[in-house]
Amino acid sequence: MSAELVDLGTVPECWKQRHLLGLEQLSADEITLILDKAEVFRRALDGGQRRIPLLTGKTCVNLFFENSTRTRTSFSLAARRLGADAIDFSAATSSLSKGETVIDTAKNIEAMGVDAVVVRHRTPGTPHLLAQNLRSSVINAGDGTHEHPTQGLLDILTIRRRFGRVAGLTVALVGDIMHSRTARSNIWGLRKLGAHVIVCGPSTLVSPRWRELGVEYSYKLDDILDRVDVLNLLRIQFERQATRPFPSVREYALLYAMDSRRLARTKPGILILAPGPINRGVEVTAEVADGPQSAILDQVSNGVAVRMAVLWLLMGSRKQVSS
Ligand code: CP
Repeated sequence: MSAELVDLGTVPECWKQRHLLGLEQLSADEITLILDKAEVFRRALDGGQRRIPLLTGKTCVNLFFENSTRTRTSFSLAARRLGADAIDFSAATSSLSKGETVIDTAKNIEAMGVDAVVVRHRTPGTPHLLAQNLRSSVINAGDGTHEHPTQGLLDILTIRRRFGRVAGLTVALVGDIMHSRTARSNIWGLRKLGAHVIVCGPSTLVSPRWRELGVEYSYKLDDILDRVDVLNLLRIQFERQATRPFPSVREYALLYAMDSRRLARTKPGILILAPGPINRGVEVTAEVADGPQSAILDQVSNGVAVRMAVLWLLMGSRKQVSS
């Protein structure tokens, strides 16, 4: 299949981004542009196109200092689908153990001829630091508890594909809001596109201060079930918590796990999302995760399309438009 079979249309002059560091910095028009291009790629992938060589000759490196299944694999796949070379960097076996800094590590890899650096790091702001120090495009694949912009974009694309719109919908983010970079990216993106957002979880993980981001907060999932269009079920991130935010996982599940009893109290057509990895029986039961309202695997498919759109917009769209 050739790239000519994919009609990506034009890219407006307003698109001037060199990096994707977060959704906080993007306008509603820029977010919509990424979603529109992702939609084109999703349809091309669904139509069986596996090679859309718009980035031939480009090289992307995955610089992951934290574990990943979905994000790293789908960035690699997205780059390869576009004809670019994709390189995986393994922090565990790298010279970081000899004292090399993250910036020096990234600069050395860039010196090998890299056009885009996809970075995940436990420290918020690491992608921003690299963007100040590298010539390449830098894409944030998750920086601590701060942002995970491509996860936010793929969640919003999944919502838009299901409902045909984002504006006017009520989306609840449920669970470990405090430690969730996915929550922050969802809030920035959804609010800009006109959705009403509720953050819901135990008071130890949801602060009233979240209202400053323009969202509603709730401590009781059962109180909001009948008025939400989308439930995005976030994992409890024990690895980022200094102390347990609730007495036991069982008690958390009793109050917040999305199960068939709670599902029966939601609106018809409720959309169940989870960024993954999911902990079955904690934030969602198996019957809901695998049930007809769940779009969890569709989110993963949309992730490849979103990452193709991001890579193309940052590295290839100007060449495409001017040629
Ligand atoms: N949702 C997400 O970021 O998954 P991974 O940690 O597996 O990349």
